[in-house]
Amino acid sequence: MRVVLVCLLNLLIGSDGWTDTKIRKFPKQFMFGAASAAYQVEGAWDADGKGESIWDRFVHDSPEIVVDGINGDVASDSYHLWRRDVEMLRELGVDFYRFSISWPRVLPNGYPTSINEAGFAYYDSLIEELITHGIHPMVTLYHFDLPQYLQDLGGWTNPLSSQWFEDYARVVFDRYADKVKLWITVNQPNTICIDGYGSNAMAPGLNLKSKEAYECVKNVLLGHAKAYRLYEKVYKKKHDGNVGISLALNWFDPFDNSTINAEAVERAREFEIGMYMRPIFSKTGDFPTLVKTTVAKKSQEQGFTTSKLPTLTPEEITLIKGSADFLGMNHYTTFLVKASNKQHMTPSYAADLHADYSQGAQWKPAKSPWLKSAPYGLYKVCIYLNKEYDYPTMIITEHGWSTAAGLGDQSRADNIRQYLSALLLAMEDGTEMRGYTAWSLMDNIEWTAGTSERFGLYQVDFDSPTKERTARLSALVYKNIIETREVDPQWEPSSLNIKITSKNVKAEL
Ligand code: NOJ
Repeated sequence: MRVVLVCLLNLLIGSDGWTDTKIRKFPKQFMFGAASAAYQVEGAWDADGKGESIWDRFVHDSPEIVVDGINGDVASDSYHLWRRDVEMLRELGVDFYRFSISWPRVLPNGYPTSINEAGFAYYDSLIEELITHGIHPMVTLYHFDLPQYLQDLGGWTNPLSSQWFEDYARVVFDRYADKVKLWITVNQPNTICIDGYGSNAMAPGLNLKSKEAYECVKNVLLGHAKAYRLYEKVYKKKHDGNVGISLALNWFDPFDNSTINAEAVERAREFEIGMYMRPIFSKTGDFPTLVKTTVAKKSQEQGFTTSKLPTLTPEEITLIKGSADFLGMNHYTTFLVKASNKQHMTPSYAADLHADYSQGAQWKPAKSPWLKSAPYGLYKVCIYLNKEYDYPTMIITEHGWSTAAGLGDQSRADNIRQYLSALLLAMEDGTEMRGYTAWSLMDNIEWTAGTSERFGLYQVDFDSPTKERTARLSALVYKNIIETREVDPQWEPSSLNIKITSKNVKAEL
């Protein structure tokens, strides 16, 4: 432990590098995977009876919102190139593939009353191909692409939305419970609600500055919990799968030692992490007290007659509490938090949070403006979650790094190695981490950034009609980590040639 602290201190003092040299191994049962999401890779946005999603509507109505004009209409064309995708997973030697099902592809208007068999046929083939090659499918039910039909009824702000989600989940569980043992209900409720309803950063881009983002949070958490309880009641005994949720769990450190910034970082942790963690993963359940009191006070000042944050009833608290077999952690970066000096004129989430974020000046920048490398933050968030939330079982369901196009992605290779080293240290210090998922298997549509920020282990040539995929340096480095189960900062491949090597152990779930 002392050695660990010394190492950690080294990391904290002004460096984004990982200097600890002890070789640590990932345990045998630790699982490695790679991830994607339907809208970002599939393309075929209106093929074979697929319904329109909120992302289709968002980018078609306002094409200028996508910085390079390349949207998900064709994307990486995984709808047609899924065989090659599985081949890439085999080249990497991963244990599982995390992908999402597009709700409007299988239920075009969102309701189970009309099922699109052709849409399901695509997932049937993908799942079959994965299983044939010993790769576990990890299925996300919802990764930002609500059927537009349901959005026209209010989307996630409609109190019925949690029921819509449960009904959709039932159709998918019925179809795949015998084949899929790892499930994620929803991906990043904060992005769905705060960015999608509270701002115009993500679809549906409504920029509602009032109560809607918080209503959405409640409904998404209820939808998640209803899907979890459904699986628990109907499928768990027979199929023995695990159901979790993926939360955005970046780390928040105070900008300096001042009291005012200590309070600001507390707010950031409770608004950005606690709002989703406490209802599911704490003994008391419910939204964090700090969020409840802060939003209630602000609401009153802003002239609302009730708090913008909806109440959870005792029944809802019980339904949500404990509704996860594992916590999916999406971790990318760290923010340094200051009390905000901005005057927020209109009610908004930002006004309630009242904190400004920055990042270490010397931390290495990725292509995305919000992303800088600070591996110590992964260590700290793991330790923090263990302490605050009583050692949840976790899987990193996303971690990644963006670059410009090009195959020699040394910065991604370094980033993966440094973060995995930080993770090994956190595991040595008691973190129950069962797996790691690289975001992303291949370049894809980074939402409104289009293809200007590349996250892939494999490059996709978006100009070629065949959307050719080519392994980057990081793909070989990741493959080597999976094979050796350790992180060797010196290892370099002799060429960028990647081949399928047979695995002798199949990961046990
Ligand atoms: C998290 C989201 O789940 C994913 O869709 C996105 O591409 C990555 N972050 C990178 O921004």
